[in-house]
Amino acid sequence: MNLKEKIKDLTIEQKVALLQGWTTWTSLELKDKEIPPMFMSDGPVGLRKQAGAGDHLGLNESVPATCFPTSATMANTWNVELGVELGRALGKEAAANDVHVVLGPGLNIKRSPLCGRNFEYFSEDPYLAGKMAAAYIKGIQENGVAACPKHFAVNSQELRRMSMDSVVDERTMREIYLTGFEIAVKEGRAKSIMSAYNMVNGTYANENTHLLSDILRGEWGFDGYVVTDWGADNNHTDGVKAGCNLVMPAPGPDCAIGLLDDFKAGKIDEATIDKRVEELLRVVYDTKEVVDKAEKSFDVEAHHSVALRCAEESIVLLDNDGILPLTDGDSVAIIGDFAKVPRYQGAGSSQVNPSKPLVSLYDSLANRLNISGYSKGFDRKNPHPVDKLIAEAVDVAKNAEKVLLCVGLDEILESEGMDRLHMELSKSQQKLIAEVCAVNKNVVLVLSGGAPFVMPDRSLYRAAIHGYLGGQAGAEAMANAILGKINPSGKLNESWPHKLEDNPSYPYFPSKERNAEYREGLYVGYRYYDTLGKPVRYPFGHGISYTDFDYSDLTVEGNDVSFTITNTGKVDGAEVAQVYVSCKNGNAYRAKKELKGFAKVFIKAGESKKVTVSLDDKAFRYYNVEKDAWEIEDADYEIIVAASVSDVRLNETVHIDGIKSNAKAPACYYSADIANVSDEDFKSILGREIPDGRWGGELTENDAFCQLYYAKSGLGRLLYKILTSMKIKPRQKVPPILT
Ligand code: BGC
Repeated sequence: MNLKEKIKDLTIEQKVALLQGWTTWTSLELKDKEIPPMFMSDGPVGLRKQAGAGDHLGLNESVPATCFPTSATMANTWNVELGVELGRALGKEAAANDVHVVLGPGLNIKRSPLCGRNFEYFSEDPYLAGKMAAAYIKGIQENGVAACPKHFAVNSQELRRMSMDSVVDERTMREIYLTGFEIAVKEGRAKSIMSAYNMVNGTYANENTHLLSDILRGEWGFDGYVVTDWGADNNHTDGVKAGCNLVMPAPGPDCAIGLLDDFKAGKIDEATIDKRVEELLRVVYDTKEVVDKAEKSFDVEAHHSVALRCAEESIVLLDNDGILPLTDGDSVAIIGDFAKVPRYQGAGSSQVNPSKPLVSLYDSLANRLNISGYSKGFDRKNPHPVDKLIAEAVDVAKNAEKVLLCVGLDEILESEGMDRLHMELSKSQQKLIAEVCAVNKNVVLVLSGGAPFVMPDRSLYRAAIHGYLGGQAGAEAMANAILGKINPSGKLNESWPHKLEDNPSYPYFPSKERNAEYREGLYVGYRYYDTLGKPVRYPFGHGISYTDFDYSDLTVEGNDVSFTITNTGKVDGAEVAQVYVSCKNGNAYRAKKELKGFAKVFIKAGESKKVTVSLDDKAFRYYNVEKDAWEIEDADYEIIVAASVSDVRLNETVHIDGIKSNAKAPACYYSADIANVSDEDFKSILGREIPDGRWGGELTENDAFCQLYYAKSGLGRLLYKILTSMKIKPRQKVPPILT
């Protein structure tokens, strides 16, 4: 179709109207111009198409769809082919339901274990997150449906998500917070992208020309459309100028009228509006053509099997002294609320209505083990210990040969719109674990939850196996892993610190008044722990197996890193080999190791496989802020093959001819000693003054109630006093001035 001709035939009123949503989920239809509506649905975890009343908070029910493991869980598979398969099934369900755009995957970086949406995001590492996202996108788009990676960008906290400003230096932004999106766009060829709610360096993400025009379209060649997060529009004209094509959900006539007025006042030209309409319509027509012809049903059982395989491959065996796998017929007690009512997805806009009735872990094991007793042990809705429940659990545990103790994070803790306040398990679970482990020495912890939490003392239990949030087939998958029907092969997509205070973002997260200051810079997750040598409970990339793997014969030839892995144990299994690069003598500060490649390999017991991981254009690069360009430093680089970031198996040093650099930065960034980055040091990497994030009384419609404290109007401050005297405990870390 000749879109340019089509656009010539539209009035300016029609054009501005096309740049905003018309219902909660659709773009505008212009029947007489033969412009169809485009239907969008959430979808990182599975399709959430609301057939009835629409909302973007996951409140109203949606059509039944396969609930796959959440993205955090899938990233634990480190299996990009499986990511494509999941995406393919998800895209098919979308097309079957006349959905043109799947609003996902989400790939914000897990800066803190506390971010409420961590379960929806892939990793603390941009390379792993980007590769998994690209895989989903390829799979979804094979069906002619568009994928929509989100939330672009630097959106790693939920607190005051609509009004906070992510203050981040350009190098950190490029290397950590944008690289995943770069891979998703360049390799996944995403047809749309969702701009985030927050500001990035003082400008709303949706109005950020640097992000949407210079980088996304200019550098990465994105040719799809940009949609706002639901309600993320602020100044529509600025958004359209910066590169946004569609305001969602249905902002009402003022939005289009405002743009029209600005056009009439000469604040935006018609060519820019035409361009945005063209970028949008290209996807409207492309997706419509294929979705119209798609089969209007999908194979529920086949998609459930995909969900099961994904869940099985994502299971991470954290610790095991040999008690696992259990054998069919073993006598065990099962304890914990999650055993009968699985924790399988997070809350908010990603929430899916599963296509099949859920099967619990208890039910999955009931016919295969000799279950000597069950006790709920704690109530997921009540964080306080209930003595009666604990006493019952202790009774059941006392007489049992072995105990499967099912604990983790509950639904209330993991939700869009709020961050966790701490990293602990609920007090009720902590007490339960202590008391059950005191009376039974054969406890296996069976864990659920989409983000790290503080683990019980290692001496208390014999094994810990983690299913994260495994989707509708998660419990079945866990039963298969516990019984050794499958061999766990998942590895952690994120580091698990011993305690929250160890996390590099701890002093700066979530934010200081309006500013979310990313003072820790590049040192996110393992980049910090590993560089500083700070012990963690489980390192990034950790996961053990029922077998063992040996690594040998490393060669580095050109871009190819080759080595051999041998399964030296007695059972078949899969290993996730990780390739890190370490710059030995450059001038730019860097993390000690950076993930630059990985491979998941299935190897039969006793067999060996040669593995080749090809390094790409991201392997040696760093972002030179002086030149505003990616650059490779002339230096020696160690190529490290490892089973986790802390479990190095092979290494070889190569020299890469690059550019001699004079990069310099404050000492704290060279030593990764970033717990107390001074204003001076932060200013130096920001390359400008730190913006004044204080609330000075200029509150806007995006500000939160707690900010009414600062309102210029006495009425606002009175409202604040009334609200705060209502004895509702604030759920966020508040600035000292409010406490
Ligand atoms: C979320 C998005 C989601 C949108 C539509 C927003 O609140 O941040 O991830 O796609 O709602 O449901």
